[in-house]
Amino acid sequence: MSFEQIGVVGGGLMGSGIAEVCAKNGIKIILRETDSSVLEAAAARIEKSLDRGVKSNKIDESQKEAISSRITYTTEYSDFKDCQMVIEAIYENEAAKIECFRELDNHVVDSQAILASNTSSIPIMKIAIETNRPENVCGLHFFNPVPVLDLVELIPSLVTSKETIERAHTFAANQLGKIVVRSQDRAGFIVNALLIPYILSAIRMAEAGFATPEDIDAGMVKGCNHPMGPLALADLIGLDTTMSVAISMYEEFNEPLYAPPPMLRRMVEAGHLGRKTQRGFYDYAR
Ligand SMILES: NC(=O)c1ccc[n+]([C@@H]2O[C@H](COP(=O)([O-])OP(=O)(O)OC[C@H]3O[C@@H](n4cnc5c(N)ncnc54)[C@H](O)[C@@H]3O)[C@@H](O)[C@H]2O)c1
Repeated sequence: MSFEQIGVVGGGLMGSGIAEVCAKNGIKIILRETDSSVLEAAAARIEKSLDRGVKSNKIDESQKEAISSRITYTTEYSDFKDCQMVIEAIYENEAAKIECFRELDNHVVDSQAILASNTSSIPIMKIAIETNRPENVCGLHFFNPVPVLDLVELIPSLVTSKETIERAHTFAANQLGKIVVRSQDRAGFIVNALLIPYILSAIRMAEAGFATPEDIDAGMVKGCNHPMGPLALADLIGLDTTMSVAISMYEEFNEPLYAPPPMLRRMVEAGHLGRKTQRGFYDYAR
């Protein structure tokens, strides 16, 4: 059975990308944000991304309109009542996610509906046990930018049902055309468990004055053929998200390599969050 109506909570970088990709694949989307101004920003982000698709001839104007018409914007959890799945993509904050899943548990009527989190690092079990349907909860971790990157990590908790796992896998692979890898329910899953210590090492290197951000990034781009250096990548992910992911991994493993360096903390405190605020390791306002 394929999914026809899906809810997305959070219309930031990831939520808007997830909504766009689902709508492109014919799925009706209800996108919830906290207030109307953030909702407008989410709609504008999706519109801009679809315009890029039109410019590069991947879709035409009529397809763009059809995709846009499948997305409904709301500030109400009650609009999720008929959804067959809801994907949560709000801030990487455990308490906020738990609160969100309690709301979903209260409002989504279908007892078979899947409640998925796009968390980068928070163990799924911590969220699942706060609902009355932990067997329906799993991690579905998309990558940024969602319309471009093919991977989805599927993370069952110890209590996720086999049916939920298979339905979520089929959805990501067959309905969205993503490549699905499965991870145990450990903070950071597969990709961030490897990526975050690498990014944090680059930040420590810059902090120590070992090399400039430009030279660190050029080293990895030109020397290792990475598409982007670690500091430019941290700016793309968002330095707040990078720090939150590091904190949950540090909490889980107590390994110093996951501890966010002071330079990262200070930049987040200053509101220098990377591309989304136009300022991070690089200045994007110019
Ligand atoms: N940025 C990345 O590269 C990336 C990649 C994969 C996964 N993730 C994960 O995806 C999630 C979202 O990250 P992001 O980069 O999109 O963050 P973001 O800061 O761009 O967006 C988060 C959005 O959630 C909204 N929000 C907060 N609480 C809400 C609520 N209760 N209901 C509705 N909306 C709410 C905020 O208004 C904001 O627009 C996080 O868990 C993050 O770890 C991020």
